[in-house]
Parts: sequence; C-alpha cells; structure tokens
Amino acid sequence: MSKLYITGQKRLSGAVTLQGAKNSALPVLAATVLAGGESVLYRCPQLSDVEASLRILRWLGCRAQRSGDTVLVQNDGIARHDVPDALMRQTRGSIAFLGAVLARQGRVRLSLPGGCAIGQRPIDLHLKALRCLGATVRERHGWLDCRAPHGLHGADVTLPFPSVGATESVLLAACTAEGTTTLTNAAREPEIADLAVFLNGCGARIQGAGDSVLQIEGVPQLTGCAHALIPDRIVAATIIACAAVTGSEITLQGVIHRHLAGVLPAFEDAGCVFTAHENELRVTAPPRLRPMKIVRTMPYPGFPTDAQAPLLAAATVADGTTVFMENIFENRYRHTAELARMGADIKTEGKFAVVEGVSRLYGATVEATDLRGAAALVVAGLCAEGKTEVSGVQFLERGYEAPEQVLSSLGADIKKV
Ligand code: UD1
Repeated sequence: MSKLYITGQKRLSGAVTLQGAKNSALPVLAATVLAGGESVLYRCPQLSDVEASLRILRWLGCRAQRSGDTVLVQNDGIARHDVPDALMRQTRGSIAFLGAVLARQGRVRLSLPGGCAIGQRPIDLHLKALRCLGATVRERHGWLDCRAPHGLHGADVTLPFPSVGATESVLLAACTAEGTTTLTNAAREPEIADLAVFLNGCGARIQGAGDSVLQIEGVPQLTGCAHALIPDRIVAATIIACAAVTGSEITLQGVIHRHLAGVLPAFEDAGCVFTAHENELRVTAPPRLRPMKIVRTMPYPGFPTDAQAPLLAAATVADGTTVFMENIFENRYRHTAELARMGADIKTEGKFAVVEGVSRLYGATVEATDLRGAAALVVAGLCAEGKTEVSGVQFLERGYEAPEQVLSSLGADIKKV
C-alpha cells in the first residue's frame, strides 16, 4: 500500500489544468450501455473509480479502452444483465448501471454498490423511481433483481430529496422508455446536466437538466457520440484549499466559474481573493486565514458535501472559530480525528463540527479512511510544521488524478512511496 510523505510549509505557485469530473465520468460511462456503436469521452480522469466502471463495461460485453485522458467505448450489444458483487463493490458509481442495464436489457441483477463509508447511502429513492417507470424490484440476500420485460414507460416521478444518484437513475432509465417522464425535485448538480448533454448527444430528448424539473421524452434507441466531460469542481475546491493553507497564489485552468459559485464565498470569508479571467481562476491567499461564517453543506448550488473535508482542514489553521454543518451524510467527519493528531482543535456532535483555529499544525502519521477525508489530510500536511505521513492513499486516488505530481508541480514537497 502506498503512502504520501509531505514536508509542509512550502509556498505553492503556478497553474493547474483541472481534470475531468469524476462524478460526471461514472454515470456517463454507465450511459454508454444504452448507446449503440462508439462513444468517445474526452477529459476522462485516470482514477481507480473510473477504471472500475470500465471493468464493468467490459464484463457487460463492451470494448472499453483508454488512451491518455480519452476513453473509447464500443458497444455492439450487451451480453449480460448481471454485475458481479466484486465489481459492484469497487466504486459507488457502479449504482448507475442499475438504471442503464435495466433500460437496455429489460432486466438487471446486481448487488449493492461499494464506495466510501461516509454514511448509510441507501438507494430506496432509486428503486421507488424505477418502480414508477414500471420495473418490478426484488431485494434478496444483498442482491437486487429488477425487471421490466415489456420495457419501461414514462411517468411522473417526484423525488422527496434531490438525490444526485436517484436523478441519474431516472435519466438513464427514462431515455429509452415509452412515453414521457417528468422528474420533479431533480438534483441540479452540474454533473447531472453533463450526463444529459451526453445522452442528448446520443439522441435522447431531455429538457431542463440542471433545473429542478426534467422532462424526458423516450426515444427507441441511442447511438454513441463524442463528449468532453466538465472540469472537476471538487478538485478545484481542493486545490483552492491547498493554496489557502499555504498563503499561496495558484491559477486554475479549464474552470467553469458558475460551478464554483457555492464554494468561493467560504474561501472569500477566510480572506482568499479570486480573480476570474475567461476559463481561468486565480486564488491569492492571505498569510493567515480568517474564520468562516457557518459552512452548511447543501445540494447544488449550495456548498458541496464533497468540499467540506478540504475546507475544514483549512479552517483548522484560521484565526478563530468556524462551525460546519454537514447536511448530506451522517458520517462525514472521520477525518477530524486524524486532523487532531496533527494538533487541530475540532469538536464534532452529530451534524456539527466546531473548529477552533490553531496557530499551526504539526506533521504526524495519519490514515485516510475516505476520499475527501484523504484530501483533507493532504491539505493539512501541506501547511503543517515537519513531516506528515498519509496512509490510505488508495482513497485519494479514487478522485484525484496523480495528486502528488500535481502538487509537486506547484512546489509542494510531497512524495508517494
Ligand atoms: C452525493 C452528493 C454528491 C456527491 C456524492 C459523492 C448531494 C446532494 N449529493 O451524491 O454531490 O458528489 O455524494 O460524495 O450533495 N438518499 C436516500 N435514498 C436514496 C438516495 C439518497 O435517502 O435512495 C439520501 C442519502 O442518504 C443522502 C442524500 O440523500 O443523505 C444525498 O444522496 P445522493 O445525492 O443520492 O448521494 P450521491 O448520489 O452519492
């Protein structure tokens, strides 16, 4: 198992081109199941979670190959309707195959997905929506068996919560259903709109993606297309946190500014200054961060739960107290215990974390237990005095492409061993 060794307190500088969004790549790869012929995905990040989705596509009978950050999927027909447990467990994103394989094959049999342990992560909303579209669902011994032997049909579906995953399941299942589906209280995350752009490029008729109400007019079939994934807004937030804790100036390239509108105000509270120019964003951080007003994670366009851990790491060295309220997942403060080993002063109680800023963190041996928590430990390591040893790097590599190379290129002292 690899580890990261970071010697902190190095000022960072330079520019980073953002990788493609992992949370777009996973549902878009599942969507290629629906699209006959060839699909080409540009800016597809090289991550373990993405490789796991490619393995599922190959298992189902597609050819999937990568050349740099371009992935080509050749779908000349899907041979199976099942996904083995070992493949389902490799990534949370595997749940997107539920709606896609069901729509394509009229049946899907798979086990519950893996992914980071950040809460219960139920899929009841996905299943309820699929039932509305005409599927029968059986859950036995950890396996789901969903059938729609006569095809799915359009319906009015309302989500009680704008779940990202359930919205994707409905999009994937409804594109080739008979008739029109209206989805109310849909998630508005940019990755949903990106999935819809890909599906529409394949011939789907989806309107309103990115809004709360989606209209999906079913079409008989889809044909693969070429698509460039959106840049990863969570990687952007993480790099901004790295700049924030080291008092640095960094330029992000390939940014879609509106995707960061929920994130930047928190960093501005802390004293960071942003300069936007076309698709670039420069962050200039102060020598010492100020505390932030209360940070509440919310569905998009609110502050994203995925950026909570890196921002919390930055708050540990702010000049005062910052309160976090995690509203999406119930177990998303596991990084705080490891940050405490580095000298951070954090108290958690249910949804809340109260972070009393300290004058400095100290390097320590810490262990990541989930993807964004791993990012928080790296952020902390960059500003800590002395050496930090981070294990659990495999979690980081679920979502960050070559993190040690990106940070080294900015002047960080970081090595993967
Ligand atoms: C969530 C985040 C997404 C993030 C991803 C990975 C939100 C709204 N979603 O997406 O931004 O990129 O994690 O970290 O911020 N829920 C149910 N039943 C379901 C589905 C969800 O109760 O069937 C609940 C979840 O327990 C959670 C909330 O709804 O409390 C949000 O879930 P959802 O958006 O579906 O999660 P992800 O798709 O994993």
